[in-house]
Amino acid sequence: MQTLSLTGANGLSEIFIEPGLLGYAGEEILKTFSPSRIHIVTDSNVAPLYLEQLAQQFELPVSSTVIPAGEELKRLSTVEGIYHDLLAVGFTRKDLIIALGGGVVGDITGFAAATLLRGVSLCQIPTTLLAQVDSSVGGKTGVDLAEGKNLVGAFYQPRLVLIDPEVLNTLPDTTFADGMAEVVKYGYIANPDILDMVSQPDYKAHISDVIYECVKIKRDVVAIDEHDTGLRMILNFGHTVGHAVEKLGNYTELTHGQAVAIGMVAALRLGALRGDADLSAPLVALLHKIGLPTELTHDREAIFGALLSDKKKFGSTVNFILVREPGRAEITPIEAEALHEYILKL
Ligand code: GLY
Repeated sequence: MQTLSLTGANGLSEIFIEPGLLGYAGEEILKTFSPSRIHIVTDSNVAPLYLEQLAQQFELPVSSTVIPAGEELKRLSTVEGIYHDLLAVGFTRKDLIIALGGGVVGDITGFAAATLLRGVSLCQIPTTLLAQVDSSVGGKTGVDLAEGKNLVGAFYQPRLVLIDPEVLNTLPDTTFADGMAEVVKYGYIANPDILDMVSQPDYKAHISDVIYECVKIKRDVVAIDEHDTGLRMILNFGHTVGHAVEKLGNYTELTHGQAVAIGMVAALRLGALRGDADLSAPLVALLHKIGLPTELTHDREAIFGALLSDKKKFGSTVNFILVREPGRAEITPIEAEALHEYILKL
C-alpha cells in the first residue's frame, strides 16, 4: 500500500492508496478510529455500487444519508439534513463520519464534519478520479450559495483518506476524463513525469501510480500552505479562465475538468503572448487523446467579465498561474487591464 501523510491545523491526515482497498476499508478504518457508531454519507450514484459493501464491514451500528447526485445539492440545506440524520441516530463526538463519493459528497460531508459539535472525525473515501487526486486531499470543505460556488466552508483535514483506484472502473468515460484534467495539471505545475506516464497507451493500467504522484504534489503544497494564502494557488493552473467558462456555461455546458482543460491551454497561450515559449501544442494533443476540449468558444469580453467577478477579491490585479516549462509554475500578478488585452487576443 502506498501511504502519504500531512499535518494540518486540525491534526494528522493519512492517505492510503491501494487497488482493492474498499474491500477491506473497515479494517483500516478501525485501526485509526474507535467510534461507537459510523455514519456514511454518499449519493444516489454511488450508494447502489458501494454503500452496502462498505457498511457490512463493520460490526458497529452504521447509518447513512444518501443524497441525490449532482452539484445542485451542494448547499446548506443538504448539510442541515445530514446534521439531523446524525443527531437522530445519537451521533456523538467520539463517532465517525465517512464521505463515500465524488467531490460534491466530499465537500458537503467534510463541512458537516467540520461544524457538527464543532468538529467530529472524518474519513474520505473518494470514488471519482477528480476526488482521488484533488478534492478529498487537503481539507477544503464547503457548499455553494446563490451568489457563487464554495462561498461557505472550512479547512478541515480528514484524519484518513482511503483511495481505491479499482472503483474508477465503474466510472463513465467522461467522468474519468474530467479527473484527468487535474492529473495533467499536476504534470504541468510540478512533475512532468506524470505527463510521460499518461502519454503511454496503457496508462490506465498504472493509474494507481499516477494517483500517488498527483496526491504527493498536493500533499507537499498543502503542507506548506494549508490555508491557500500563497503556494496553494499554483493548484489553480487552468482554473482562472476555467472557472470563467464554467460559469458562462451555467455549470451545465462544461464539466469542471473540461473547463480546466480549456483553461490550461488558454493559460499557456497567454504565457506565450507575454513572451514565454508557446508550450500549448503538446498539451492540446494530450488533452485530445484523453477526450477533453481545448478551445475557447465563449465571447472574450464575457470571459474577461466572468473572470474578473470571480477574482474581485484581488482588487485590480489577478494572480494568474503561468507555467514557464512543464513542471515549473509561477503565481504571476497581472494587472486587470493587461489581462483584458491578453484575453481578447486568445
Ligand atoms: N483544488 C484546489 C485546492 O485544493 O486548493
